[in-house]
Amino acid sequence: MKKILFAASECVPFIKTGGLADVVGSLPKEFQSEYFDCRVVIPKYAGIKEKFKEQMEFVTSFYMDLNWRDQYVGVFKCVLDGITFYFIDNEEHFGGDKPYAGMPWDLEKFAFFSKAVLSILPLIDFRPDVIHCHDWQTGLVPVYLNERFQGNEFYHGIKTVMTIHNLKFQGVWGMDAMKSITGLSDYYFTPDKLEFKGDGNYLKGGLVYADAITTVSNTYAEEIKTPFYGEGLDGLMQARAKDLRGIVNGIDYTDYNPSTDAMIVKNYTEKSFRRDKKANKTALQKKLGLEVDAKKMMIGIVSRLTDQKGFDLIAYMMEELCQDDIQLVVLGTGDEKYENMFRHFAWKYDKKVAANIFYSEELSHQIYAACDAFLMPSLFEPCGLSQLMSLRYGTVPIVRETGGLKDTVQPYNEYEGTGTGFSFANYNAHEMLGTVRYAERIYYDKKRDWNKIVDRAMTADFSWGASAQQYQELYDWLIG
Ligand code: ADP
Ligand code: GLC
Repeated sequence: MKKILFAASECVPFIKTGGLADVVGSLPKEFQSEYFDCRVVIPKYAGIKEKFKEQMEFVTSFYMDLNWRDQYVGVFKCVLDGITFYFIDNEEHFGGDKPYAGMPWDLEKFAFFSKAVLSILPLIDFRPDVIHCHDWQTGLVPVYLNERFQGNEFYHGIKTVMTIHNLKFQGVWGMDAMKSITGLSDYYFTPDKLEFKGDGNYLKGGLVYADAITTVSNTYAEEIKTPFYGEGLDGLMQARAKDLRGIVNGIDYTDYNPSTDAMIVKNYTEKSFRRDKKANKTALQKKLGLEVDAKKMMIGIVSRLTDQKGFDLIAYMMEELCQDDIQLVVLGTGDEKYENMFRHFAWKYDKKVAANIFYSEELSHQIYAACDAFLMPSLFEPCGLSQLMSLRYGTVPIVRETGGLKDTVQPYNEYEGTGTGFSFANYNAHEMLGTVRYAERIYYDKKRDWNKIVDRAMTADFSWGASAQQYQELYDWLIG
């Protein structure tokens, strides 16, 4: 049996700040278990829920040398849905309730994690054929493998895959501090390796040393070869183009299933949504203090409130949007300017706008189920999972044509009767507003056509099947 190890900084159901956790938690379950033994390793954060901590069993502990001292490494494990998860314990690094504290704290934290991921392998008696690294936090895994582990027989021949979930975050910091913390020699800090515009860069290290690179949609795989999306690494992306492929994310079709979801008020299917979906809307209107009216078009947003997600377009048009015959339900946390912007409009238009500035799994499901449309006008979007969840719940996405949004939302064409959502091309507030208003017209004036969009959205398949197959082929090819 072939062995795969996922290394990442977050994973559902243990700890999540965004889509990365969804992917790391759901993809391993999709491989045929007779073919791949796929396990996952993440940090044992203090913020992991008690009920999961109780299920963990202690495996071993040892001391590892990093940043000029010996540091404690504990290893815990638990099995969930047939998948083995390992947790690296060190209270100094993982004691906060959130995964990230920002730089420079995260710098040592994830150097420690990456080195520990490799160090534990002989002790847990698991020699992966492939270590699949996710995002900058695990960028040093391929680097350390090259630097000190590969010479050892146990590690010899282990392959690595580096997946870019978001090129914006790279783990960049001053080179001297990085050298000292990581213990990597000067050899690694040249422009063809970890050096990046005079600083050090973890992700770049991973991208240079990984055997294969993937990102989470085809369009993003192309976009990151250009300066606009490349975040300074477009040259490297071009240089490694033949080792770089886009594999679009899926979502867990069991966790996100409107016909069985226990978090929503009324379950429904692609056959019954016309009758049953609206009970979720009126229940949410009541819960959030909005005007209760099943016919009112409700637009949802569930998101990190950051520039990436296009909130400056929304902020610019918010007053105008509020003049329309719609309701807007927001769930998210992030930049204060956007949190306060939504709070302000929820105060000013309290029957139309609901601002939920917090994190809630349950409310997110209720929004996906209740709304008619979902707004996601991202500046860039490596894949995006929220629009996939919306499609699954028959909530029509309104998106900008970038990255995974372009690859997963088919724009409505009223002449051909095709499409699963609405989209616009340019990052422009007026284009966005025009597209939202076009959707409003279809919703209010052509209800049958709208329902057909919902129909197509709900039957489009964004489960993992095809994409898991592509990862499988990649692993097979690497293992040879
Ligand atoms: P990103 O990873 O860039 O944040 P994705 O669309 O890939 O964007 O994934 C976001 C994930 O996080 C989705 O599962 C979404 O439902 C969830 N999410 C974002 N904000 C919140 C929140 N405030 N409460 C609950 N879930 C949230
Ligand atoms: C990142 C991206 C998002 C993607 C997610 C999972 O957070 O911003 O587009 O869906 O990773 O791959």
